[in-house]
Amino acid sequence: MIMDQLTLATRTQLTSQTGLEDLIPDLTGDTISFAGGLPDPAQFPKQAISDSFQRVLANNGLDALQYHNAKGYLPLREQLAARLARENTHIDANEIILTQGAQQGLDLTAKLLLNKGDHIVVEAPTYVGALAAFAAYEPRYHEIPLENDGLDLTLLNKVLLTQKIKLIYTIPNFQNPTGIVMSLAKRQQLIELANRYDVIILEDDPYHDLRFAGESLPSLKALDTEGRVISLGSFSKVLAPGLRIGWLVAAPALLRQIRYLKDGADLESPTLPQQVISDYLIHNDFDAHLDSLRKNYLVKRNWMLDALRKNLPAGFTYTQPEGGFFLWLTGPKSLNFERLLREEVAPKEHLLYVPSTHLYASNQVLNSARLSYATYDQATIELGIQKLSRALTAEALRLNA
Ligand SMILES: Cc1ncc(COP(=O)(O)O)c(C=O)c1O
Repeated sequence: MIMDQLTLATRTQLTSQTGLEDLIPDLTGDTISFAGGLPDPAQFPKQAISDSFQRVLANNGLDALQYHNAKGYLPLREQLAARLARENTHIDANEIILTQGAQQGLDLTAKLLLNKGDHIVVEAPTYVGALAAFAAYEPRYHEIPLENDGLDLTLLNKVLLTQKIKLIYTIPNFQNPTGIVMSLAKRQQLIELANRYDVIILEDDPYHDLRFAGESLPSLKALDTEGRVISLGSFSKVLAPGLRIGWLVAAPALLRQIRYLKDGADLESPTLPQQVISDYLIHNDFDAHLDSLRKNYLVKRNWMLDALRKNLPAGFTYTQPEGGFFLWLTGPKSLNFERLLREEVAPKEHLLYVPSTHLYASNQVLNSARLSYATYDQATIELGIQKLSRALTAEALRLNA
């Protein structure tokens, strides 16, 4: 077999170590998965998107099927700039590049900045897909724990004092995996620290519009005073991930370089979905759609919180997110959520979650798990939490025996 004769690049070996594929099996018919960050498919505006596809092909079809450029469809960039301006992020359409999801923004930013061995800060825990993207560039991680209001800035300050950090990666809103929101005071302090220590901040904000409780806060990009924030957004969670369109906002000098990297990666994001989204925004009330998403996810979050309250054994805590898709469940120190998933919960209960081990750059923390409430109806969420609670109760008894 050809693979036996090949020596894979170091980056390939590193990337495969971060994957969840071996851990989380393909879904069988009766498996309930709280693992993926899949939006509720009932909320996809299928008819409106279909109408937009037809309109774009009928009215502008030859252009929509042609090559264009790496920056992406200008009218959509202008629509995004106008939406961002409503929230006091005043940028020009030329400071936006349309990417294949926020995921590509993670890869391009790492490619832009990181040499092998460069020091970067990530939240602990963090988004597994970011670790997968960064791994290829072989950085050295400094994990900063999250407090209830975001990064522990005292610890961050210490790291910045002693190490030359190049990049701070943060998900300030409804953090994946914890659901935590960074407070306004911390956002301001983070910008100050980045200015003081000459660091780039990578703000990953795909859940931005999915706040269903509490007050919305300015993005880091809105607070940026020196053009050091690269900010990522996405239509995946608010329209449909199958469109694969996100965006990256950066200061012009950085964006120019990112554009060259994107040329090399894929020439451009697919034009047809960009034009479809632009058309969708013209012909539909997107704000009303977002309102309905927020209501829907609030109800789902409450279903999961109620089910946890009713069924979980003592000794567990969990976050109560004000938006987004995820909550973070933490058990007694001796609990190993990964072993439990592999040996008990997946094979016997046909239930999936993401164990914390994979969500820390250091892979060190065993006793937490990420649960997504976004995908299912009430009955399925309740059934899934009952299954999980049954396994956790048995495990707690075993640990105490
Ligand atoms: C924090 C975070 N960043 C980026 C992504 C990637 O999203 P996209 O579909 O826009 O590539 C996700 C998806 O789950 C995410 O949770």
